[in-house]
Amino acid sequence: METFQAILAKKLSDALAQARLPIAGELTPATDPRFGDYQTNAALVLGKQRDEKPRVLAEQIVALFNAGDVCEPPVVAGAGFINFALCPGAVAEKTMEVLRDERLGVAETKSARHIVIDFGSPNVAKPMHVGHVRSTVLGDALARIAEFLGHEVIRDNHIGDWGTQFGMVIYGWKNLLDRQALQRNPLAEIVRIYKETNERATSDPQVREACRQELVRLQAGDKESIDIWNECVAFSMQDFEHVYKLLDIHYDIQCGESFYHDRLPAVVERLLKSGIAETSEGAIVVFFRDNPELADKPLIIRKRDGGFNYATTDLATVDYRVNDLKADVIWYVVGAPQTLHFKQIFEIARREGYTADLRHIVFGSILGEDRKLMKTRSGENIPLRDLLEEACKRARKIVDEKNPHLSDYEKIDIAQTIGIGAVKYADLSQYRMTDYIFSWEKMLSLHGNTAPYLQNAYVRIRSIFRKAGESSPKVEKLILGDSAEINLAKRLCQFAEIVPQVLNDFRPNILANYLFELANSFHTFYEACPVLKSDEPTRSSRLSLCDLTGRVLQRGLELLGIKVPERM
Ligand code: ARG
Repeated sequence: METFQAILAKKLSDALAQARLPIAGELTPATDPRFGDYQTNAALVLGKQRDEKPRVLAEQIVALFNAGDVCEPPVVAGAGFINFALCPGAVAEKTMEVLRDERLGVAETKSARHIVIDFGSPNVAKPMHVGHVRSTVLGDALARIAEFLGHEVIRDNHIGDWGTQFGMVIYGWKNLLDRQALQRNPLAEIVRIYKETNERATSDPQVREACRQELVRLQAGDKESIDIWNECVAFSMQDFEHVYKLLDIHYDIQCGESFYHDRLPAVVERLLKSGIAETSEGAIVVFFRDNPELADKPLIIRKRDGGFNYATTDLATVDYRVNDLKADVIWYVVGAPQTLHFKQIFEIARREGYTADLRHIVFGSILGEDRKLMKTRSGENIPLRDLLEEACKRARKIVDEKNPHLSDYEKIDIAQTIGIGAVKYADLSQYRMTDYIFSWEKMLSLHGNTAPYLQNAYVRIRSIFRKAGESSPKVEKLILGDSAEINLAKRLCQFAEIVPQVLNDFRPNILANYLFELANSFHTFYEACPVLKSDEPTRSSRLSLCDLTGRVLQRGLELLGIKVPERM
């Protein structure tokens, strides 16, 4: 199925060819619906390029534009914009196509890629905190959308399960561990001993030295150290798994940092051999002398004491993903503080001749109501698990109020769908670079751009069908009379245009905002156009619009990793 945007763009390029003009500018949805459904700035761009009057060029293009029965003859506006208004008949036909299509009109990409997505990636012996929410939720949504568009996706959890913190964890385990506390809440106890050791090591050089020795023992493969390490990893993974289950997130592989441990010496060897790295004051270092941005930011890949760094692991990771996993694209969904790190890694990969497309997908922070980084009252990071459980608890109140007669079992399930959906949607509906304020009230509101609002729109549609006692009728043709009907149908046709756009700049918020507008269009339609009470064939036509709206809402939310309840 071709989208209206694609059809009009094709017609525009035909008109430009006839006018002996090159393709220029963009054809986009209209910014103001009063002027039509789509617009192009082609004449403006060409005017500038050729130093000609845009309006004159626009008139020329319009005269050669073959609208067929897709749209009204286009209209020139303002400084030289061209506006297109779709014909209701074409909208009705296209909507029928979408209605019949399993994929709701969304085409599979013609250039499928092997994409490894590195997202979430929490650290062992540290609880996952709200800062990991964004990476996890954003990475998952991008994975879902990429898969739906036909890309081959590998979801990889690059867990921080190796590194200097383990010297401290093992020291703490040997000297500070409270076995009973470990039984009660393993991760909390591991975090406690790690923190306490960290504090001691800061003030006491002897503890610091002892931790260093623990690390050396671990890295040398000492049995006792490895056993402790294994136990810590297992306990942490349990906590992560619990969160992933709540969030409905899965990984295809979880190659943590330890997975690459054996490969690090070879990475350093290789970089030395190719001359990309050199020895400097006993360490092995990569300099970026000819890169103005990185010229004063050398990267140590092997320390003087022989230890490797986070960066060394990431270099081994690029190699594994490209050569073993056959990735041609790697997305790193990691917070902005690691921008420099990835610039360095990508630059080294480029010098080594890797051609894969490496992207650091950055995002802003989640703030508390005080506009500072979200923390508990005592200044700690809020454990993600607690936050998600609280979301479900708060959502339960909504269910209790709206639908007190449901069984307890159903209520728990619905509350989870709403609570988790609300947290995810609050994140995904924001442009990823914006810092946003975490507000329970706002995200759980049944009004406004929230998950519960969209879920409620879906539930309303389901209840129409329950009332009608039938599933979606078979129709051959849609009847679009009322302007609210036409607007809703146009929106439904846009789904196919919106979904691929998300990946252009990794912006699930485009999809979120589309769904919000769709739900609004549906409410306007539902208020203006009786469905069950109208006569045939209008009744069936309108029921079909309801059905399709429900399907698009469901699929759209699913692409964001959000479920819909049948009732709430
Ligand atoms: N574990 C890291 C952290 O929490 C994130 C890892 C990101 N991925 C990577 N390949 N470096 O900061």
